[in-house]
Formats: sequence, C-alpha cells, structure tokens
Amino acid sequence: MSAPSAVDDYNNITNDGEEGEEEEETTAVDFLQSMMMQDDEQDEDEPASSALSSTPSADPQYNPKKPLWWKKISGRPTKSQKRSIEAMSQFRLPRVDYGSFLDWEEIFASTTPQDNTNNAGREIWLEIGFGTGDNLLASAHQHPDRCFVGAEVHTSGIGKLSQRMHRAILQSQHWTGYTVFTPERSNQPQTPEQPDPEEDEEIDSDTPLPDSTISNNLYSNLRIYGGDGVKLLPYIPTSSLSAVLITFPDPFPKQRQIPYRVVQTQTLLALHRILKHAGRLFVATDHEGHSQWCREKVHQVNTNARQQKQEQQEQQNQLFVSVEDFDRTEWLPVISKYEQKGWNEGRTTHLSCWQVVK
Ligand SMILES: C[S@@+](CC[C@H](N)C(=O)[O-])C[C@H]1O[C@@H](n2cnc3c(N)ncnc32)[C@H](O)[C@@H]1O
Repeated sequence: MSAPSAVDDYNNITNDGEEGEEEEETTAVDFLQSMMMQDDEQDEDEPASSALSSTPSADPQYNPKKPLWWKKISGRPTKSQKRSIEAMSQFRLPRVDYGSFLDWEEIFASTTPQDNTNNAGREIWLEIGFGTGDNLLASAHQHPDRCFVGAEVHTSGIGKLSQRMHRAILQSQHWTGYTVFTPERSNQPQTPEQPDPEEDEEIDSDTPLPDSTISNNLYSNLRIYGGDGVKLLPYIPTSSLSAVLITFPDPFPKQRQIPYRVVQTQTLLALHRILKHAGRLFVATDHEGHSQWCREKVHQVNTNARQQKQEQQEQQNQLFVSVEDFDRTEWLPVISKYEQKGWNEGRTTHLSCWQVVK
C-alpha cells in the first residue's frame, strides 16, 4: 500500500466531489458511518447537560472519519463549481510525499500584481475550515503582504470559493461580495441577505483566464487544500506559520461527537510545532461549550508541558499564552453567514487568541 500524502483527499476532489461518495455502493466504512449516524440520531434526546459537557474525563484522539450525516450537510458541488475547481487547479497545494514538508518558498514563488514583489518570505497564515471562503478571500484581498492557505473538507465549499475566484480573475477584480465586520453590526440580528444571483450564474468555461499562470494573478498569495486540515499539519514545516485561524468550527456538541472536533491535544501540539515563536492561534465560535473546550484543551496542553519539564515557573513553560487584547479585523474582517446565523438565533461570538511560546 502506498504511503498517504498531504493531497490524498484533494485528489478525490478532481474526480467528483466528496471523499469516496461518488460511488453509491455501500462499503464497510459507509456501513459503519451509517451505524454512527443512527447512534447520533438516537442521541437527539440526550440531555443538554451531558451533551454540552466540556469537561472530558479522557483525552480523545481526533477522529477524521466524520459521520455520513455531517458529510451530507453541505451537499454536492454543482457542475459549474466543479469546472471552477478545475480551472483554479493552479491554486492547489502541491502533492508531497509522506514524511516530507511543503516548500513554502517554492509554493509562493510568484509575484503579487499590486507591487510586483515576490511572495516568498512573507508571513503565511492558515485557515482550517474556510467554508465558502468569505474570510479567506477577504483576507487575501486586504493583506497582499501575507500569504494564505485555506483547508476545507467539503467540496461544495471549495466549489463556491473556486467560482468566486474564477469570476474575479476573469473580471480582473478581487471578489468583494463579503460582508465587512464593523463593531456596530456585532451581535446584531439581520434579515438574511438575498444571495447574489450572479454568484450562481454559470461561468463560460471556454473563456480563457487572462493570465494562465499563477504569477501576477489576483490571488497569487492564496493556496487551497481540499481535505482535512488536521491531516495537513504534519506536512507543514516547523516554525513556518505566523497564524492559524479556526473560524466557527463545527461544534459537534454531543459527548460522543467530541473526537470530531478540530481542537484536540494532538492538534494543539502540531500547531505549536508549525507556528513560529509568537505566532498566533485564533479561534472564533458562537458555541459557548466549544469555546470553553478550546480553552480547557490549551490549559491541559500547557499543564502537561509544565509537568514534563517538572518546573513551576508558569509562564516560562507554557506552550500557548492567552492574548486578551487583539483586533478582530486583523484576522476576521468579515461576518460569515454562519456567524450571522448565530446572531439571528441569539448566540454571541466568542473570540480567543493564543500566542505560541518556543
Ligand atoms: C460551521 S462551518 C464555518 C465555515 C467558515 N469558517 C465560516 O465561518 O463561514 C465549519 C467548516 O469547517 C469545515 N471543516 C470541519 N472540520 C474540518 C477539518 N478537519 N478540516 C477542514 N475543514 C473542516 C466544514 O466542512 C465547514 O465548512
């Protein structure tokens, strides 16, 4: 059996959508997943107190094999989205061998159209779970001085992002359809905005891109990974990232769903390895229990690190130090539909930031 690579998941995207879901026949994995779904359905009556518990007795391993119901949430990409995914293939992270690291210098060795300078050497930011890419595209647009990598599991989200990029590149203008965050709009319910009809319009697949190379392209500072962001982490060079964003991660609120959460002990240790000294981890969620879970996990990782060193000087042996004073618009300049939905339903946004100590 060949070794897995960082782009194993992504290769499936070029075929036809979700991992392994293009074949309708039931595999052993599907069977197990549907059993899990039934399990989850039976959980519907689970009392909220146990469902929202954020104080795990054990330290769960991250489980990337998500239940089928979750995989189906976002639906399949449209034909037009699939064409855009293909047209934007130059923005994919390259394939790397098991045990090797991505070469950022090579990956971002292209110029930005704004100032014609090289991307290599710029800060690299990673967003895990970018959804339809509102924050990622806004950030790549607003910060041409940074490079961005976005990881997303759901192919329809990648399809939407690809369509937005595709159209923007054809029109030689960044996509600006995102909703800009302002403090006045914070936590305010809004009537849902009508979807932009142009967004779903077919893009003429025969129209050639104005510049077929990524160099000088509008989004030359952006790369996409279609797959599980947690599985990508081992392929990222040590101390190479300036920031990691996890924006509105699926809360997986039930006790038995906890292993599906992105933030786990192993994830935090991997993030500590790939972030630079003073690099930052930002988490935004509208789920209070999930926010508390993330804080507890960071606390646990810090405590373990202290115990391992058998020293008592608190700050010195922390892997992550909490940062209280930060500007949201630096890393989350948009209001995504997930965040707005939370506000419409009376939830508030919990923002956390930690700085890595090495
Ligand atoms: C609730 S949505 C939020 C999307 C986006 N961050 C926003 O604020 O609009 C969570 C997203 O994370 C993605 N996701 C969940 N686990 C992931 C993982 N391990 N790697 C990459 N994406 C993941 C889901 O597919 C989904 O699109």
